[in-house]
Amino acid sequence: MQRNKQAVALLLAALAAAGSGPSLAADMAAAKAKAGQCFVCHGPDGVAKVPDAPNLAGQNEGYLVKALKDYKSGKRENEMMNAMAKNLSDQDIALVAAYFSSIVITVKAP
Ligand code: HEC
Repeated sequence: MQRNKQAVALLLAALAAAGSGPSLAADMAAAKAKAGQCFVCHGPDGVAKVPDAPNLAGQNEGYLVKALKDYKSGKRENEMMNAMAKNLSDQDIALVAAYFSSIVITVKAP
């Protein structure tokens, strides 16, 4: 838990320094690489590719972290996501949450 908070803090610090050079780009590249295993269902742009998967783009980072921890612990049940989350470390969870939450979405009024 503590380690995860530190990882998130580091990522947030990196995001706060947006545009300030290669370290952010490297962090986001690492986050994108880690999230690659999710793209088949949730899409590289966080817009779901299969009808039963939710869109993750722009979702709150804290919500994503909690959802993934709950799938990992089994508190939240879904066969597919329990299997996916089982293999994620706290740092992996911080990375993929940072990746999907960082995607900017634009919402058009109807
Ligand atoms: C094989 C398809 C598939 C893959 C691969 C997959 N997911 Fe999912 N994901 C789903 C489905 C289906 C749900 C809806 C589950 C439910 O109803 O709880 C879901 C739900 C979620 C949710 C909950 C969203 C919400 O609104 O509550 C998160 C977060 C999530 N996935 C993250 C990930 C991440 C991160 C990865 C990669 C490590 C991943 N998923 C890989 C299919 C997938």
